[in-house]
Amino acid sequence: MNDLGSIPYGKVWAGGTRRLRGDAAGVTEAADLIRRGAVVGFPTETVYGLGADATDAVAVARIFAAKERPQFNPLIAHLPDAAAAYVEGSFDASARTLAEAFWPGPLTLVVPASAKCGVCDLARAGLPSVALRVPGNELARDLLARVGRPVAAPSANRSGRVSPTAAGHVLADLDGRIAAVLDGGETPVGVESTVVACLGGPPRLLRPGGITREALVACLGFELDGAEPGAGMNPVGPGLLASHYAPRARVRLDATAIAAGEAVLLFGSDLPSGSETAQALFNLSPAGDLTEAAARLFSALRHLDAQGVETIAVVPIPATGLGDAINDRLHRAAAPR
Ligand code: TXA
Ligand code: MG
Repeated sequence: MNDLGSIPYGKVWAGGTRRLRGDAAGVTEAADLIRRGAVVGFPTETVYGLGADATDAVAVARIFAAKERPQFNPLIAHLPDAAAAYVEGSFDASARTLAEAFWPGPLTLVVPASAKCGVCDLARAGLPSVALRVPGNELARDLLARVGRPVAAPSANRSGRVSPTAAGHVLADLDGRIAAVLDGGETPVGVESTVVACLGGPPRLLRPGGITREALVACLGFELDGAEPGAGMNPVGPGLLASHYAPRARVRLDATAIAAGEAVLLFGSDLPSGSETAQALFNLSPAGDLTEAAARLFSALRHLDAQGVETIAVVPIPATGLGDAINDRLHRAAAPR
């Protein structure tokens, strides 16, 4: 999957972050690093992204670790062209129309993941949908074509800081935390892509951005769903919208003892009492590595949920580093519904 080893949260990238020139050699090098599981900053036309192989959950976990993001938001998978995006998702008529009109460009389409979708569970935050985008920047598309796999990338800033529009901003935030940054100068758009969900029914504006609502409506010939004109600055919070994976089973947190018939989500080497009566066990990381645990979290929940149990008991997960994001998702999964 990758040969770079596990990079613990907060650890400085050995040798420091490299600044790669935005030329053919830099693109080749950046693509190589991404293919090997590393995290690399790269320019798009909107803002710099923090890219990793979207098909490799450990590589994607490293994005969250580098950003110190306390939540696993679903990430956008970047593709070199529309044809590559059509493989990853199912596009209805509206999605096709928008893709044909605005790609390459600052538009992200959230569509149902296709059967062939290679974007891992962690990048999709466990959702059945996938966010896809073909960036308008040629250097970015060259890089994506070279990688040959979807590249997951949030904006390349540390959590809580503003999105970077120059390679220097990326280094200011993340020097020593990522393998490299590909320097493509200033990004022309400066605000993130517009995010539109096409999940059946009228498309829905999830986040205003580089493509205006008016332009979307003019292209489609009808109103978008759910967005009042002028509500552009107060979109449905991405954290609130149908974007949370919740297992069917009840989730019980901080379990220190297991009841008969429960499924158990473990972390580390300790077995809670009663584990021998569990219906199913899954260990996020026997070695107690939070990066590994993050990479496996959504698949683990899906796996345990598929056992048909009433309750998934989860042992305490340390609230340090990526543990914050893991606990955030577990708390959401455990919220009453
Ligand atoms: O311009 C951009 O979009 C930049 C560049 C790097 O491409 N990327 C970016 O990524 O802004 P990020 O992670 O900061 O924002 C991604 C947005 C979030 O609001 C997230 O909730 C939404 O896309 N999103 C991703 N997948 C989704 C899904 N399956 N359902 C709903 N929303 C989704
Ligand atoms: Mg962001």
